[in-house]
Amino acid sequence: MFRRLPDSPAETLRFTFDGAPLTARRGDTVAAALLANGIATCRATPAKGTPRGPYCLMGVCFECLVTIDGTGNRQGCLVALEEGMRVETQAGARKAVAP
Ligand code: FES
Repeated sequence: MFRRLPDSPAETLRFTFDGAPLTARRGDTVAAALLANGIATCRATPAKGTPRGPYCLMGVCFECLVTIDGTGNRQGCLVALEEGMRVETQAGARKAVAP
């Protein structure tokens, strides 16, 4: 589906998605890193569990919600990937946290 443009090599970062080890490039967003690894689904809707994945890649559609390092409702297209990030599928709505 997605293929990187040929360009100069960038630093490789390691991260996990649902426990699987993956790599991406420094400068990728979390959503771009998932797409570059062939992962098009990153969440399930709260109502019916329908699979969703990054769509607009500019912070508008909210289809890219993931859990990052234990924090849910993160927009993967707006978060820069960092070394060692633990990214997980967001299943349904994020759990509410009492203040
Ligand atoms: S892909 Fe649309 S908000 Fe992230």
